[in-house]
Amino acid sequence: MSTLTIFSSTPAAGTTAPPAATGRTIPAVLGADLEVPVKGGRLVGYANLDYAASAPCLEPVSAAVAAALPAYSSVHRGAGYASQLTTARYEQARHTVRAFVGARPDDAVIFTRNTTDATNLLAGCLPAGTTTVVFDTEHHASLLPWQRSVRLAPPAFPGEAVRAADEALAGIDGPKLLVVTAASNVTGELWPIAALAHIAHRHGARILVDAAQLVPHRRLNLTALDLDYVAFSGHKLYAPFGAGVLVGRRDWLADGEPYLKGGGAVRSVGESAEWHDDPEPRHEAGTPNVLGAIALAAACDALTATGWTALVREEERLIARLRSGLASIDGVRELSLWGDDHPRVGIVSFTAAGYSAREVAEVLSSEYGIGVRDGKFCAHPFVRHLLGTADGGCEDDTASAVRASIGIGSTQEHVDRLIEAVRDLVTR
Ligand SMILES: Cc1ncc(COP(=O)(O)O)c(C=O)c1O
Repeated sequence: MSTLTIFSSTPAAGTTAPPAATGRTIPAVLGADLEVPVKGGRLVGYANLDYAASAPCLEPVSAAVAAALPAYSSVHRGAGYASQLTTARYEQARHTVRAFVGARPDDAVIFTRNTTDATNLLAGCLPAGTTTVVFDTEHHASLLPWQRSVRLAPPAFPGEAVRAADEALAGIDGPKLLVVTAASNVTGELWPIAALAHIAHRHGARILVDAAQLVPHRRLNLTALDLDYVAFSGHKLYAPFGAGVLVGRRDWLADGEPYLKGGGAVRSVGESAEWHDDPEPRHEAGTPNVLGAIALAAACDALTATGWTALVREEERLIARLRSGLASIDGVRELSLWGDDHPRVGIVSFTAAGYSAREVAEVLSSEYGIGVRDGKFCAHPFVRHLLGTADGGCEDDTASAVRASIGIGSTQEHVDRLIEAVRDLVTR
């Protein structure tokens, strides 16, 4: 029989920076030895190059979930020992996530289903009359939830993003929110979020950063960057257990009406409900996804313990190899907003002359055992802009691209296999 110990739920300091690189080895992912069938019935090792959609589970994440399961119980309202233990684990997960993003001590950390849920949650809490400023380059999760928004064209260079935001925010009266992605899910390119935060605040606006594609690849410090809100998903952060998070300033969240109404969100119920003032219970009605939160926190811990220096070095080596390999193939074009030299995370989208993106992705899977994503990546206006097309929506695969994305567990063999497979295909 296992012994239950309630570990300390001492809050981590909101501004605690993750420690420097420890020199520890990079943790393994589950499924690294997965074999998949290819044409002819052979089995080959799966080359997962689709991390930007959903990353595989880190071993320490799976271990943390397995360790929490025997005592799994209800949270917050149970007097039983297992319930207290699970509650402590759930609340510790909140502290871990807070420290991971370098949040201020008084920021809310609300567990959501994913990034989409987080942006929609914030959208429902904006003060009346808020205008949102958003670039056409955003993922639909950050482009669509806003009731009243000003949409900005894809900027030709990073400074133009700052200038366009400056001009748009200057023209808006009343509450305003700038929404921007930190790393593009289409090109991987990094956005100038510190400069955009500065501009937003100069106009009395707030900024929400969609960090779904940043946090698996780079350290984020909300306090240092002076961001108001960040959102991201566990399943892109090696924690595929159905939790995401919204972190940021409490006041709008404390005032906003919960979209999920039910037990836990209320202080008392008579003729009407009296909602909690604290954003966390207010917006986490019902039984929360405890294992998802524990998994998300375990991923944060694992990345921090590994150290960003080691992670970034390996990712940059592989992505440089992938990009130069693809660039060496006639007819292959990488999609980029700000040019070859602009810094980016481990995401590359490309087209191959003579083939639709769907054809390329299908051949890569069925003949080479490679998993990539094809389509418009839930960023229709941006992909349309990059391809210079007017497309007919999701079903129009002539206006689509192939996306290869890497992370922990990606190998040089995976990258080289993709390059050679694309080369073979376009020279058929
Ligand atoms: C930049 C970005 N934002 C938001 C999302 C939405 O994430 P989720 O599907 O986990 O809500 C994605 C997912 O691809 C993304 O890449």
